Amino acid sequence: MKPSVFLTRILPDQVMAELKRRFDLKYNALDRPLTQPEMIRGMRGRQAVISMLSDRVDAEVIGSNPALRVIANYAVGYNNIDLKTASSRGIAVTNTPGVLTEATADLTWSLILSLARRVPEGDRLVRTGRWTGWNPTQLLGMDLTGRTLGIIGMGRIGQAVARRAFGFGMRLIYHNRHRLPDRLEKKYRASYQPLSRLLTAADIVSLHVPLTHETRHLIHRGVLDRMKSAALLVNTARGPIVDEKALVIALKKGTIAGAGLDVFEEEPKVHPGLLRLPNVVLLPHLGSATVETRTKMGFIVIENIQAVLGGTRAPNAVG
Ligand code: GLV
Ligand code: GLV
Repeated sequence: MKPSVFLTRILPDQVMAELKRRFDLKYNALDRPLTQPEMIRGMRGRQAVISMLSDRVDAEVIGSNPALRVIANYAVGYNNIDLKTASSRGIAVTNTPGVLTEATADLTWSLILSLARRVPEGDRLVRTGRWTGWNPTQLLGMDLTGRTLGIIGMGRIGQAVARRAFGFGMRLIYHNRHRLPDRLEKKYRASYQPLSRLLTAADIVSLHVPLTHETRHLIHRGVLDRMKSAALLVNTARGPIVDEKALVIALKKGTIAGAGLDVFEEEPKVHPGLLRLPNVVLLPHLGSATVETRTKMGFIVIENIQAVLGGTRAPNAVG
């Protein structure tokens, strides 16, 4: 008998085919976020659930299914899952690290370049027919070369962003819970800084920490006040790492110059203040959104479910 799996959304074709081949698959064909009761109903009696970062897998959801043995999150972040409840019930939780590192780093640079060179503003100018021709002082942005990039969180994704910084001729500083080994600091030409120093020195601050109790609102008013007034903030990690309300005020007052956001505090809601600002670039959580990456994430999920249900340790167990 094939193992029973509940999938909360629709995944890329190749992944769907493989899931159907290997498992007794039930999935949410509506392909929209499920309410808590729908989630509970969907996963009833299933041995595995494949959840999205947009699904809240809380104590009630977990507790509703005594047959559940593994929650395989289709994401690297797993702040949407109540790990304590899962582990107290002996349920494995897994994620998809590694495969989305490069895609997320690329998207981070898309935001950095879009902000620095005012790409969305230019696009809007052309599209709305208000462009009157080349202009020596129109939409001037800033050079990246020679500027300082400050990376907060030097895990896999932070390091992939760092690797690209060298190509743009940027100086690199970073902050992390633990300092990197010498070898890696040399490789990335990155210098470790206390958070306060990073904030005052960086022209661009990019966030790559997971969302935890410690990092919630890591970027608050006091932090924004320390940044350069010409600085840009980029967040491709998790929305609640930034106090969005404080960010809107800082952007309006010119405390900092701009922000590039792929994630928001209450997705899909976006603070209305952000929508009115010209100096922000807003994306709908696209970090890992490439065909290759989303397919690979699916195969990692499959591998993890098979390991747990086969009685071996999941390669990507978390918690
Ligand atoms: C995306 O945000 C992820 O955590 O995979
Ligand atoms: C995620 O993969 C990270 O460690 O940054």
